[in-house]
This record gives sequence, structure tokens and C-alpha cells, in this order.
Amino acid sequence: MEVMTAIRGRRSIRKYRPREIPTEVLEEVLEAGRLAPSAGNRQAWELIIVTDKGTLGELVPACKNQQFVGECSAFLAAVEVPGQRWSMTDLTIMMDHLTLAAHEKGLGTCWIGAFDKDAIGKLLGVPPDRSVAVCMTLGYPDEDPSPRSRKSPQELYHWERYGSGNEVFGLPDACFVGVADGNLLSKA
Ligand SMILES: Cc1cc2nc3c(=O)[nH]c(=O)nc-3n(C[C@H](O)[C@H](O)[C@H](O)COP(=O)(O)O)c2cc1C
Repeated sequence: MEVMTAIRGRRSIRKYRPREIPTEVLEEVLEAGRLAPSAGNRQAWELIIVTDKGTLGELVPACKNQQFVGECSAFLAAVEVPGQRWSMTDLTIMMDHLTLAAHEKGLGTCWIGAFDKDAIGKLLGVPPDRSVAVCMTLGYPDEDPSPRSRKSPQELYHWERYGSGNEVFGLPDACFVGVADGNLLSKA
């Protein structure tokens, strides 16, 4: 699958089929995360992978009662490494790589930021000098949601200098694509 196809096709999935992920598929998805770039190549993260049904059920209250946490096939908890300035960035890149590799393999994911750090830490045996930074559900989708909206490039980009906006190009949203090698790219 083309990278852009995966990026455009990925959705947050909150409804899963009760189906195990074959070990080799799960390992391949995890590998996409392991190969992610990191500051100074320090790979300042650790990952807890939960597939046990009982534990998945126990994670629901620790994740603000998000029921689909108990229905996914695997739950991933990314652990921050203390004292490492880029740990949060490293682990975020790693997790994002996972989402795209998972999508390519027909799996759905949903980031989980709504959780109780202490409750998850206790449940998963995270040592006191470590903490779970962000989590993710993984499993075979049982829904096919439409793409969620995104801000327009005009709201997000500042070409060359903050505050310049891209109105300098005088292009409406619909035909704006980007700039490459100093050349304006448009859909027309
Ligand atoms: C850091 C982070 C935390 C999130 N936490 C949750 C969450 O706890 N529960 C949930 O249902 N979705 C969560 N999401 C998913 C977002 O709601 C979702 O990515 C956003 O609405 C865009 O939808 P899309 O992923 O389908 O494009 C989280 C996403 C991110 C990046």
C-alpha cells in the first residue's frame, strides 16, 4: 500500500470484531514502530502489549470507561523514559508508524489519551520511575467511519514566516496542494 493511501485511509476505530491478531501480523505492526526515527537514535520508549482478555476488560475503567478498550484485540501502552528530553516525541512517532502499518494490514487503531495514569500503571506493573504516556487499541474493524474533518492549510501553515499565511498565493483551499522546490503545486 502507498504511504499516502494508508495516511488517507486510516481512521480511528472504536468498534472491533472479536478476532485474534495472528502473532506474525502483530509482530510486523510492532516492527513498524521499532523502526521509527528517534532523537539521537536513542529510542527513548518502551511498549507494553496487552492481549489477555481479562486484562483488556480491567483496562476499561482505567481508560475512563471507554468500552471498546475491552473489545479490541491488543492494547498498547507506550511508556515514557524519564530524563529523556525527546521521549514523548520518540514514542509518538513510534505509535504513529504503528497506526499506518496496522491500517495496511487491515487492522484498525485508536489512540487513547483519556486514561488514568496511576490506574494503568498499577494494572500493568509499570515501575514508579516510569509512566504510561499514551495508549492505543488495535484490532479488526467492525465499522467503516467517514473521514473526520481537518483544518484547512490556510489555518495551519505559515509559509516562510509566522503570520504570512498562504493567502500570498491567492489560491482558494480547493486548489492548494503545496510547494516543492520553490514551485507552487496546485490541483488544476
Ligand atoms: C493523543 C491522542 C489521544 C486520543 N485519545 C482518544 C481517546 O481517549 N478516545 C478516543 O475515542 N479517541 C481518542 N483519540 C482519537 C481522536 O479523537 C481522533 O484521532 C480524531 O478525532 C481524528 O479522527 P481520525 O483519527 O479518525 O482521523 C486520540 C487521538 C490522539 C492523537
